[in-house]
Amino acid sequence: MAKYQIATIEGDGIGPEVCRAAVKVLQEACGLDMLAFNDFPGGAAHYVKSGAVLPEDTFNACKQSHAILHGAAGLPEVTYPDGTEVGNDLHLQLRFKLDLYANVRPIRLYQGDFSPLKNRTAGEIDYIIIRENTEGLYASRGAGVLLRGEVATDTLVMTRKGVERVAKFAFELSRKRHGAPADGKRRVTVCDKANILRSYAFFRAVCTDVAQGYPDIELDYAYADAITVHLIKRPDFYDVIVAENMFGDVISDLGAATVGGMGIAPSGELGDHNGLFQGAHGSAPDITGLNVASPLATILSGALMLRWLADRHADQALLDAAQRIETSVEKTLAQGRAIPRDLGGMASCTEVTAEICRNL
Ligand code: IPM
Ligand code: MN
Repeated sequence: MAKYQIATIEGDGIGPEVCRAAVKVLQEACGLDMLAFNDFPGGAAHYVKSGAVLPEDTFNACKQSHAILHGAAGLPEVTYPDGTEVGNDLHLQLRFKLDLYANVRPIRLYQGDFSPLKNRTAGEIDYIIIRENTEGLYASRGAGVLLRGEVATDTLVMTRKGVERVAKFAFELSRKRHGAPADGKRRVTVCDKANILRSYAFFRAVCTDVAQGYPDIELDYAYADAITVHLIKRPDFYDVIVAENMFGDVISDLGAATVGGMGIAPSGELGDHNGLFQGAHGSAPDITGLNVASPLATILSGALMLRWLADRHADQALLDAAQRIETSVEKTLAQGRAIPRDLGGMASCTEVTAEICRNL
């Protein structure tokens, strides 16, 4: 019996391809007796067939498993009557029902000239966005006001508990890291629009209260509009950024673009009891089944999953495996023999996966 039960939801579009790639690398890195992968249905295509985007059996399996590994979900043509996408509901139901309040989004530039920013080299961009994942503007998902086809509103919700716990997560993370590339300083940047909205002023005030408990970590503030400039002009200044849900969603894609795109953007959505790991990209239906999707974001999300499990279970073998996967990705990109299409190469999904297994 494997030590850890991992629920996988391969999902829609490229989801199955990249999820299977990550499972292959994880099995290669951990050995077959460490992780057991059990796949469960979910997503837009499953909704079309069954009427359920997240079947109860799938949800229960996710809740009871040690971790969840997800491919991708969403088909643009599958929407609810209110116009919102069905597939996204898979993520959102898991986030809210499992209370996955910290969406961890590492932004890291690897060796191999993948940044569209001039003169940026590996190691100069290495920060983590902590996106509050269970409230903010997303709290209104499915609950906004639609009036006579004339008025539509969504409310932005901030709670002290919700902001405190994500801020604490950000400061604790910074304490474990090596500081910003520019100056080696441990720094948490609070991203908001406190100058305009009371809810964001509240977000900033609660983060500032939390910061009092971390005198060893520099507290920095940046308005959400200004930080989009800073992430382009001085990305090496950042160590950890904490942001409300919607702002975190937006700046994490901008950050991913500065290091090569969504195909190299992993994520870990963490609560106190469960963790959901997936590439921050979408289902890319236009390239489904062509074996051209990059598996890197999901493979790196798998490494994040191992780190999270290693921490929760004090399991050094998992930590070693996570490090080997991350080192193999670095080596694969530096050697340049199997570069995925989205990073300028010609390698297929299976070729990239095979090379990463070889480099383990
Ligand atoms: C993300 C995605 C999701 C979001 C969608 C797929 C629900 O954009 O994880 O960044 O909006 O949070
Ligand atoms: Mn997004």
